[in-house]
Amino acid sequence: VNVLELFCGIGGCATALSPRDHVLAAVDQNLLAIATYAANFEHKTLACAVADLPASLWLVTLDGLWWLSPPCQPFTSRGNRRDLDDPRCDGFKFVVQKLKELRPRRIAVENVPGFLNSRAHALLTETLRDGGYDSHESIECPIQLGIPMRRRRYFLAADRDKLIEPRPIPQRTCKWSDVIEPSLNETQCSDLVVPPEDVERFGESIHIVDPSNEGPLTIAKCFTSGYAKSPRYSGSCLRMPDGQVRKFSPREILRLLGFPESFVLPPSLSLSQQWSLIGNSLSIDCARTLLARFSQFP
Ligand SMILES: C[S@@+](CC[C@H](N)C(=O)[O-])C[C@H]1O[C@@H](n2cnc3c(N)ncnc32)[C@H](O)[C@@H]1O
Repeated sequence: VNVLELFCGIGGCATALSPRDHVLAAVDQNLLAIATYAANFEHKTLACAVADLPASLWLVTLDGLWWLSPPCQPFTSRGNRRDLDDPRCDGFKFVVQKLKELRPRRIAVENVPGFLNSRAHALLTETLRDGGYDSHESIECPIQLGIPMRRRRYFLAADRDKLIEPRPIPQRTCKWSDVIEPSLNETQCSDLVVPPEDVERFGESIHIVDPSNEGPLTIAKCFTSGYAKSPRYSGSCLRMPDGQVRKFSPREILRLLGFPESFVLPPSLSLSQQWSLIGNSLSIDCARTLLARFSQFP
C-alpha cells in the first residue's frame, strides 16, 4: 500500500507499517522531527506545512492510505480546547478539504480522546459520511495490549471499501526489566535525576514507578512533550535502587511506545528536544491495531 504520512513527526506510522508498504512521502513542518525521521527511514521527507505539499503527492497516493496525526493541543485543556479556531488546526482543516475533493481510498487518524467531541471531529466524520466511506472509531490504550503505560488515544480507520474485523496483532511482553536501562553512567544519570527537594515539593504531581515493588505492574502515566520541561503531570519517573528519583530516558520511553532498538535519535538533538519529539509520537502497538482494520494490511 502506498502511504502519504501527514504530520509524520519522528515516524510512528512508518514504524508501525509492514516492510511491504511504501511511504511515498512523509511531511512535517518541524525540522527536528524531519531530521529524526530521515535518520531512520529512506522515504522521501518534506519539511513543510501540509498546505505546501505538491499536488502530485496527493494524487499518487489516492489508491493508498493517507495517515494523519495532526496536532492535539486544540483538543486538550492545556491547549485551551480552541478546536477549529486554533491556528494549529489549520493543517487538519486543509487535509479535510483535500479529502472532500479527492476521496483517497483509505484514511487513518490518530489524536487525543478530546478530539472525539470536537467540531473538528464533526467536520471529519461528516466529510467521510458524505464521501461514502466505511469507518471505525475507537479509543485505544497500550495498557489493553499488556504494556505498562497509559496513552489513551482516538483512532479512526476509514475505507471507501469495507473495513474488516481486525486480526489480532502479535503481542509483545513488556516487563519493567525490558524497558529500564540496566546501568547508566554518571553523566547520563545526573542528566536524568530529579533533585530530592523537587520530589518532596511536588509530591503527588510527580508519579513514580518503583520497579522493585512486587505485586501488580505499576503503570506509567502518559509521556507528553511537556516532559521535556517538567515531569509534573507529563509522564512518570523512576525510583532507582539507591532511592533517588530520575526521569525516564528517551530510549526507555521509545521502548514503551514500541519503537525498535534500531531506531536512532540524531546525536545533535538535546535531551529536551528528544523528550519533546517522543512525547508527540504514538504507541506503535496501538497504531498496528488500527492498521489491521484495513483489508490490505497484514
Ligand atoms: C502529534 S505530532 C505527530 C507525531 C507523529 N505521529 C510521530 O509519530 O512522531 C503532530 C505533528 O504535526 C506537525 N505539524 C503541525 N502542523 C503542521 C502543518 N500545518 N503541516 C505539517 N506539519 C504540521 C508538528 O510539527 C508535529 O510534529
